[in-house]
Amino acid sequence: MKDTSHDTSHAELHAEISDQFDTTAMATETTLLNPRFYTTDFDEMDRIDVSPVRGDWDKLLAQMKSDPNRGHFKKNEDWDQIDWQGMDPALRAEFIDFLVSSCTAEFSGCVLYKEMKRRGNNPDICELFSYMSRDEARHAGFINDALREAGVAVNLGFLTKAKKYTYFRPRFIYYATYLSEKIGYARYITIFRHLEAHPEQRFHPIFKWFRQWCNDEFSHGEAFALLMRTDPKITESWQARLWIRFFLVAVYSTMWVRDHARPEFHKALGVDIDWYDQEVYRKTSTIARQVFPVEIDIDHPRWLPGLRRMDAAMRDMEKAQKKGGLGGWIAHKAASARAMAAFAGLYLIPVKDNRPPASVRLEPSY
Ligand SMILES: [Fe+2]
Ligand SMILES: [Fe+2]
Repeated sequence: MKDTSHDTSHAELHAEISDQFDTTAMATETTLLNPRFYTTDFDEMDRIDVSPVRGDWDKLLAQMKSDPNRGHFKKNEDWDQIDWQGMDPALRAEFIDFLVSSCTAEFSGCVLYKEMKRRGNNPDICELFSYMSRDEARHAGFINDALREAGVAVNLGFLTKAKKYTYFRPRFIYYATYLSEKIGYARYITIFRHLEAHPEQRFHPIFKWFRQWCNDEFSHGEAFALLMRTDPKITESWQARLWIRFFLVAVYSTMWVRDHARPEFHKALGVDIDWYDQEVYRKTSTIARQVFPVEIDIDHPRWLPGLRRMDAAMRDMEKAQKKGGLGGWIAHKAASARAMAAFAGLYLIPVKDNRPPASVRLEPSY
């Protein structure tokens, strides 16, 4: 016999949670901190010639073609049922925010990679982007399944049409996407290793999937490393150094502010956010030595205070925006000036020089 009482409470729960969270609106919103959708000069990207890295390229693509994670992104007996209703409301709100933002970021990769594959004629490039969009679609879909259980799946089809796209030149796409893939790897593996040691703090089954997941992100990062290695100008000119430094500071500081907005989520995982972020920067920076000529000095005495100033200024900006009116406008201007000053302070911390090795390829090692 069908247990209708369960169905009812499930439906009520869905209604209750979905009234609180319009996740599609959350994902569509364009703010400084939300993951964005990107577009670029696809024709320029299509002209890339991968012959200078052909050997490594063919090996990497063969590995991606073999699709080692084909069966991974499916719920199985390891997927524990979650009591969404019983979850502490503050934790639930932050966790849903985390899932929505991760899903948006994964889907953003999917949309960009798919478009590249669709518009390209270069067989090497089309093949790479078809594998990468395949992976990101799986990642976004898997997170969205977890959201669906809470009754708050993101409408991804709507998002594709409604979300604003940010244009970046191909070179900037390489820096930003390479970094976000490697950071994605470092974030997933750091959480996975932490929960491996503290399984009692794994409050949702999705974290069990992070290990194989992060290997996908690692190889996506490898692909961008190879693309950057096709032309020394992309990373070696003095302008490239300045821009890479800019992207490192922008991506790292955004991550800091975003993570610090989720204290309950990290408390539930038993993760100290300062430690976690520094750990992710450290892993990412070590990996990025394969291709970036500069490295941020995250142990510099001005680094953490700069990030904290940035975080405080961004919070004040948000408060001012909510307040509205003339007072809010003035407060917002003042806070954004402080955020810019904090950013400049971080940017001006002397960087460490790095000479990327002759061979670019790495394997995941954390
Ligand atoms: Fe992904
Ligand atoms: Fe990825």
